Amino acid sequence: MKIQKFKKRIGLIGFGCVGQGLYDVVDANRHLGWEIGSICVKDKDKSRSLPASAFTYDVQEVLQDQSIDIIAELISDPKEALGILRQALQQGKTVVSANKKVVAENLPELIQLQQRHGGVLLYEASVCGSIPVLRTLEAYYGSEPLVEVRGILNGSSNYILSKLHAERGSFQSALAQAQELGFAEADPSLDVEGTDALHKLCIMAAHAYGLLVHPDEVLHFGIQHVATEAVELATALNCRIKLVGSLKATATGQVALQVLPTLIPEGDALYDVEAEFNGLEIEGQFAGKQFLKGRGAGSHPTGSAVWADVAAAVRGYRYTYPKLCTSQATATSGDEQLTILLQGEAKRLAQVLEQLQPAIQHQTPDQSQVILSLTPQELRLHQGLLKQHGIFVAAIPARVALDIVPEVLDRAEAIPIGSL
Ligand code: HSE
Repeated sequence: MKIQKFKKRIGLIGFGCVGQGLYDVVDANRHLGWEIGSICVKDKDKSRSLPASAFTYDVQEVLQDQSIDIIAELISDPKEALGILRQALQQGKTVVSANKKVVAENLPELIQLQQRHGGVLLYEASVCGSIPVLRTLEAYYGSEPLVEVRGILNGSSNYILSKLHAERGSFQSALAQAQELGFAEADPSLDVEGTDALHKLCIMAAHAYGLLVHPDEVLHFGIQHVATEAVELATALNCRIKLVGSLKATATGQVALQVLPTLIPEGDALYDVEAEFNGLEIEGQFAGKQFLKGRGAGSHPTGSAVWADVAAAVRGYRYTYPKLCTSQATATSGDEQLTILLQGEAKRLAQVLEQLQPAIQHQTPDQSQVILSLTPQELRLHQGLLKQHGIFVAAIPARVALDIVPEVLDRAEAIPIGSL
């Protein structure tokens, strides 16, 4: 049998943190037959690791190049990225993307374009960096109904929270480090406000439950208002604060989606997911629980995920969305009562409570933190109000809520807001 020598050319659009990561992993494995055919960037003046002659500034040179086998779209501008994906798919090309915002917000159209023109789009690198999440949900759990999928989906906010727990340092300096290390988005508010995790959650919903949901419809809070008091309280309860995204099948056949900071107790699989790592617990109806953990951000881990997609696509792999074909699932925020921690500046928190009129279970002596009971639907209704008043919101799981004794709250230190 004659074996043909493998030779494939990748057209790279974008040479930021992920683009450079893909370049490095491909370059380190040249003997496998891969070649970066051309690289398109926008900024002519930016200093880069390759000479200026290595780049083109005209995206059409990549999109129209017939010698390119596969396009890797790795830019951060969502509008331009969507234009590139549309054009590539309309031409029936094979393209991979790491752009979670674009995929999450436009998935129905992107699926339709593939069906209509025969092109292929893979986007494993858009969810949890190096962890093969979508491949697992598609290929392994394509038939089995899932009870719940929950996890830490954003490396930057996990890095910041880990730093706050370990060192009680400042939020801003932890964020600056996450940016320096190449974990954060070009616009880091996407990370800390929970939007990036939300985008990943919506993408997972399509593969895990066959649910197409727009991010605007989903309850989400971030960690931008977390203060030392909340970290101290979580620690006193033997917990770490984590930003958790979850998808859960409800008794009525819906899927409850949310992204919420959560007090995770010691012993929970998510407790030991630290720094830029991500972790995902998948619970199948028959398989039970499985846990995936790996680097969720960073140049080489994400570059490796893009490369895995490139290699899979060239060998004929495509998403089949098995659950999309069979599922009637609709989205909900959920209506089970949650125990919620609200933390903020005492006066502003009091203003919020006046409007919410909740039944308060506990309050710290300095009145900067309260624990109360709310449904996710109520939280979603008041999402704007809470964010506007700079209130940090965290869910307290039932097993932790049972442990809360007033003495713990009385001991909660009154550290002035703004100290972060
Ligand atoms: N900014 C993202 C994160 C990069 O911190 O998780 C990986 O998607």
